[in-house]
Amino acid sequence: MSTHRIYFGDNLPILQSLPSGSVELIYIDPPFNTGRVQQRVRLRTHSDGGGDRVGFGGRRYRTVRLGSHSYADIFDDYLAFLEPRLREAHRLLQPNGSLYFHIDYREVHYCKVLLDQIFGRECFLNEIIWAYDYGGRTRRKWPPKHDNILWYARDPHNYIFNTDLIERIPYMAPGLVGAEKAARGKLPTDTWWHTIVPTNSKEKTGYPTQKPLGILRRILQASSTPGGLVLDFFAGSGTTGAAALELGRRFILIDNNPQAIAIMQQRFAGVEEIEWINCDLSPTENP
Ligand SMILES: C[S@@+](CC[C@H](N)C(=O)[O-])C[C@H]1O[C@@H](n2cnc3c(N)ncnc32)[C@H](O)[C@@H]1O
Repeated sequence: MSTHRIYFGDNLPILQSLPSGSVELIYIDPPFNTGRVQQRVRLRTHSDGGGDRVGFGGRRYRTVRLGSHSYADIFDDYLAFLEPRLREAHRLLQPNGSLYFHIDYREVHYCKVLLDQIFGRECFLNEIIWAYDYGGRTRRKWPPKHDNILWYARDPHNYIFNTDLIERIPYMAPGLVGAEKAARGKLPTDTWWHTIVPTNSKEKTGYPTQKPLGILRRILQASSTPGGLVLDFFAGSGTTGAAALELGRRFILIDNNPQAIAIMQQRFAGVEEIEWINCDLSPTENP
């Protein structure tokens, strides 16, 4: 069997086909919602001879629009989409494995409640704030400039955290800590300042939601081991795979967008240890 695997397709049946307890680390960055923005309009009908609907026995009714539930529906839909996939994620983790769940600040609270139900509240380890400083700034509220990453362990008493391997960062006020400490730098906290993928960088793949390699590198360094299996089932441009290759981890990536597969084919060109499953795209699917 190849060292790494990349699948094209809906992640749910693929996850269901993988063996329980086989994955050391899962990182996912699911899309904001399923894209199906449903607007469920609530109507009330009452009897009215000139009404717009005809009911039993030819009686006419008028419908009155009471309002719409689009907000709740979007979230219900989204959580219903995520839940079976997160249950699979939990099943797939090895006993000391963990999940990093990357999400938008507007969704994170709903997802935290769902993840607490699936993993157990005691398995929640951190909420990492990835802060960046890029793009326009609203003048109507505090400009939101962060994403959230929730970290859950399968077992809160036994999980991988390679404190000594985490790349250290400079102190904010090195003059206050002495030369030796300043030279060593400090461990990052749960608040990570990191630029987005710069427009003209070598790292940029052209995939619109690509996440920085630096973020994935830090996650893999901290919570996986050399040769361990890392899974990303919303893989996009394959950033998790790129970090895994650099750090000597095995990976499984899944995406259902042909453009993502085409970008990964470019990004991993020449890497022979990858098995491409169901990824023979027609020429029109290559961007
Ligand atoms: C926010 S992007 C991930 C970006 C990625 N972290 C990167 O650095 O490029 C989310 C990805 O999930 C994929 N996706 C959405 N629904 C999916 C599903 N049901 N099965 C597999 N992939 C899915 C989308 O095609 C998209 O590429």
